[in-house]
Amino acid sequence: MVVDNVLLLKYSFNYVEPIMDGDIGLRICGWIIRLKIVGKVVIIEVSGNTSVKPYVLVLKKNREPELFEKAKKLSIGTALCFEGEKSPVQKSKRGVEYIVRKLEIYSEPLEPLPVDTVGKVPALLDTRIKYRYLLVRNPVEKAVFRIRAGIIEAARQYFNNNGFIEIHTPKIVAAGAEGGATLFPIQYFDNKAYLSQSPQLYKQMLIAGFPRVFEITPYFRAEKFNTTRHLNESWGIDAEQGFINGVEDVLNTLEDLIVYINDYIRKNYVEEQEILGTEIEKLEKPFKRLRFEEAIDLLRSEGLEVSEGEDLSDAAEKKLGEIMEEKGYKIYFIIGFPWQSTGFYYMREEDGYHTRKFDLDYKGLEIASGGQREHRYDKLVSALKDKGLNPEDFAFYLEAFKYGMPPHGGFGLGIERLMMKMLGLENIREAILFVRDRTRLIP
Ligand code: 4AD
Repeated sequence: MVVDNVLLLKYSFNYVEPIMDGDIGLRICGWIIRLKIVGKVVIIEVSGNTSVKPYVLVLKKNREPELFEKAKKLSIGTALCFEGEKSPVQKSKRGVEYIVRKLEIYSEPLEPLPVDTVGKVPALLDTRIKYRYLLVRNPVEKAVFRIRAGIIEAARQYFNNNGFIEIHTPKIVAAGAEGGATLFPIQYFDNKAYLSQSPQLYKQMLIAGFPRVFEITPYFRAEKFNTTRHLNESWGIDAEQGFINGVEDVLNTLEDLIVYINDYIRKNYVEEQEILGTEIEKLEKPFKRLRFEEAIDLLRSEGLEVSEGEDLSDAAEKKLGEIMEEKGYKIYFIIGFPWQSTGFYYMREEDGYHTRKFDLDYKGLEIASGGQREHRYDKLVSALKDKGLNPEDFAFYLEAFKYGMPPHGGFGLGIERLMMKMLGLENIREAILFVRDRTRLIP
């Protein structure tokens, strides 16, 4: 039985917990989230690493008298490791039950925990954010952040399978790509610098030598408003690919990536979905391509006042989400944004009005944007001027376009926004461990 456990766990696909070879079987570590004494039995639930559900330790007075006495006195929050084996009888629905052979106590809490790490997570988001480091012991919060890790793992797998090289670009930069209004200035010795809003300029520069790149990266943005969909430090999955035949190549990559992530999480995070009480819907290719003008017409037909030359407001995006959902589209691209509404680096169509910029909206929320870039040096210089920017400030970037820059395009996908829609989270702050917003700089 014990030997079976060792073999099973050592070679099982999901098994990552440290294990001890030898007579004992396995060793699992974690924190007590619930402790119950029922007559001559102590039942302890331990929040660990491998499983989102707790490990249920069953200690019987007549089977392991010394351990029973020791366990009885423990309190919620204690950090411990145990050695033992899976119980042949599995009574608990809350997690897998174990017979314990050895208990090692590492640290007991100095005072009662300020939040419940086992029941419903607190309704107040403020409390959840403040005590996130404790609440990740709670199966609900644990499930959310295990899925977050899964999304990143799936993205890496997708890119590695498709010839993309992982890159790291500077987060302290001299110029922003996404407009001056959301730049965080910092003092960099004698120079003024900024926190990077996006790897945009650097990922494009690397297309001069790496045909396909990706980066999993923070975005720092001095967003002025406190909304449920904006953070000041958020994370993105960015990609850029060269030698493309048009923006459709980029749409296809993003679509494939999203479907890959969706399948991966649906398949590998079944227990997490169960804990969250949600079944993630399957996303199928191809995603609907909606032209920007079509989106405007749809919104106007519902009585919304929208301007043709500007990006869609949050309210317009939300409304469009409702209209599209009624038509059976949960996820859709909006393509062909007008030049007036975009960053300088997007390729302009011949008509001078439209660009090859797109957004990807999921149930009324923009989760990604991207497009084909301008790779022709002269046109890029004119575009900068047209947007009122000084080409000298972007000289380091423009240089890279002088020596054989191929046609290219890419996208930035917001990880927290994807999680919001995938898991039905109301507030973006539920999707990031430590929140940076207008009022939060700690913890
Ligand atoms: O639409 P954005 O600003 O596009 C770019 O950064 C381009 N450089 C991408 C490209 O390759 N062309 O940001 C990309 C995505 C958004 O769609 C959104 O999901 C997320 O990043 N995002 C934010 N998420 C939360 N809070 C914020 N303040 C965000 N800003 C952007």
